[in-house]
Amino acid sequence: MFWFTLLTLFSVSSGANILLMFPLSPKSHVNSFVPVFKKLSENGHNLTMVSSFTHNYLIKNCTYIKIRNVVEEMFFKKPDSVKEARKYSNSLFSWPFMRKLQLQMIETCLKGNCLRELMEGNYEFDLMISESLYLFEVFIAFGHVFNVPVISIDAHPPSAWSSYLTGNVHPYSYVPNYRIPMTDRMTFKERLMNTLLNLQEVLGSYYFLPEQERIMRTYLSYNGTYDFPPLLDMLQNTSLVLVDAHFSLGYVRPYLPNIVEVGGMTSHGGSELNEELQKFMDESEQGVIYFSFGTIMNLTLMPDESMDIFKSAFGQLKQNVIMKWESDHFPNKPKNVLAKDWLPQNGILAHPNCRLFISHGGIHGLTEAIYHKVPLVMIPFVSDQFANAYFAEKEGFAKVLGYENFTVEILLHAINSVIDNAEFKENIERRSMILQDRDQSSLRKAVYWVEYVLKHKGAKHLRPASLYLNIFQYFLLDVIAVIVLSILLCFSLVFFFVYVMIKIVKHCIRNSKQKRD
Ligand SMILES: *[C@@H]1O[C@H](CO)[C@@H](O)[C@H](O)[C@H]1NC(C)=O
Ligand SMILES: *[C@@H]1O[C@H](CO)[C@@H](O)[C@H](O)[C@H]1NC(C)=O
Ligand SMILES: *[C@@H]1O[C@H](CO)[C@@H](O)[C@H](O)[C@H]1NC(C)=O
Ligand SMILES: *[C@@H]1O[C@H](CO)[C@@H](O)[C@H](O)[C@H]1NC(C)=O
Ligand SMILES: *[C@@H]1O[C@H](CO)[C@@H](O)[C@H](O)[C@H]1NC(C)=O
Ligand SMILES: *[C@@H]1O[C@H](CO)[C@@H](O)[C@H](O)[C@H]1NC(C)=O
Repeated sequence: MFWFTLLTLFSVSSGANILLMFPLSPKSHVNSFVPVFKKLSENGHNLTMVSSFTHNYLIKNCTYIKIRNVVEEMFFKKPDSVKEARKYSNSLFSWPFMRKLQLQMIETCLKGNCLRELMEGNYEFDLMISESLYLFEVFIAFGHVFNVPVISIDAHPPSAWSSYLTGNVHPYSYVPNYRIPMTDRMTFKERLMNTLLNLQEVLGSYYFLPEQERIMRTYLSYNGTYDFPPLLDMLQNTSLVLVDAHFSLGYVRPYLPNIVEVGGMTSHGGSELNEELQKFMDESEQGVIYFSFGTIMNLTLMPDESMDIFKSAFGQLKQNVIMKWESDHFPNKPKNVLAKDWLPQNGILAHPNCRLFISHGGIHGLTEAIYHKVPLVMIPFVSDQFANAYFAEKEGFAKVLGYENFTVEILLHAINSVIDNAEFKENIERRSMILQDRDQSSLRKAVYWVEYVLKHKGAKHLRPASLYLNIFQYFLLDVIAVIVLSILLCFSLVFFFVYVMIKIVKHCIRNSKQKRD
């Protein structure tokens, strides 16, 4: 009997059909969680991924449903994607633009019937993993279509909106928004800014929700086949959130049990250098500088002036440089530069000759640099990159440069000061120890929690009661009102009593005076 119970308890969690629903998610957001998907596949689960990218990694036994790449068409095919990206660097103004752009992308995709294959393919699933708590809310509808529990991923520390949807605690007083560079110890001005940004996210998302709801009902209902509950209800019904964040890569903040921190999964030992790279790095006696702006930014589209600065600076270095360059053609390439369109980042950073990482400040690059103890020069462009760079600078293992006043001298000075100053290396070694000291790896934790949701067919018991409260109840405004009113009542009673007493006493005095007269 015991064995039977055990068997039924665990049998559900092996060999489940899992839908990985990332139609428009940026590649880097999905990449953070690829190690989990790989492990799930190894554990015998059958994965189906909906995505607009062809991924250059292989998850075994994963069926891909590749859809039209609307993101690329509408955003990155612009002639200067760097300039385009910089439009979104002002945190307070970028957000409404991003939201609108996102909605256009979603509508363009659905109007073009990009998900027809999924809708009409007679698929059956046991679980959906999607990115539906930030910008891609509408795709949560597929949790209802396939009648499965939903796990959401957060590629950033949870936003105020994501916390709102999951009932998580999110005090604006000490949880910094990842879109502005500041720490968890904020000045008055920073707390004001933090509050405004968070309110913008929550109220703004609320404002756009009816639009998403319209898109959902217009394009996904298939002549009313699916009687969708309200979008907000489905979002608040998310079983679990896996967050690509960790306190060792930022700040301490509260999480309820339905939010699981699994940051840093992409870092690993990395022994995957090919012969050419291995030889190049081994023979670089003066050390190697690794230069990459990540998967989203295409360096070949960077303005020539900026590229010339890098080339000129690199040409003057005694170190060799390995850089990510998305083309076979590289005019005026300095002799000490090796350029490739795809590079095994962990492997390069793990090599003992790697001295410095020049990065745009993406969280994965930063995590991997910390993991492999390579100090950085960071040139942030958008989104969380400014906050990541600020964190690294404050912790003393990176120098941060602005893109505006960028010159060969400034770049060379930054590179040389980070390489020559041992303090940067010492600080990153200390941080690396904190990052790696875990009771279990983030990957194991993530896989555990996915299988936990499978096993229990959702995780209703993790749902915090805050989701059942309205705003007055949540902030105890009703209780505070009653307490304040009671206190006021007491005070008024005392005042009234004193007033009456004084009146009586005065009256008595006057009376006795009159009597004496
Ligand atoms: C795995 O999922 C695919 C759909 O993506 C399905 O066609 C196939 O039958 C599934 N395999 C098993 C063993 O369930
Ligand atoms: C997964 O793929 C391997 C071949 O790569 C195959 O032998 C195995 O049966 C597959 N497993 C499932 C569950 O489909
Ligand atoms: C919430 O999720 C469960 C499965 O986890 C599902 O049975 C239920 O219908 C969902 N409710 C809503 C409102 O989406
Ligand atoms: C919706 O209904 C219309 C007419 O009733 C029909 O032509 C169309 O094929 C239906 N669409 C789907 C997706 O079932
Ligand atoms: C980068 O842009 C070049 C055009 O300059 C293009 O040929 C290449 O495919 C792009 N690479 C990526 C990864 O987007
Ligand atoms: C570069 O610009 C930033 C602001 O964009 C400024 O804080 C910094 O002092 C400038 N650095 C130099 C060397 O001019």
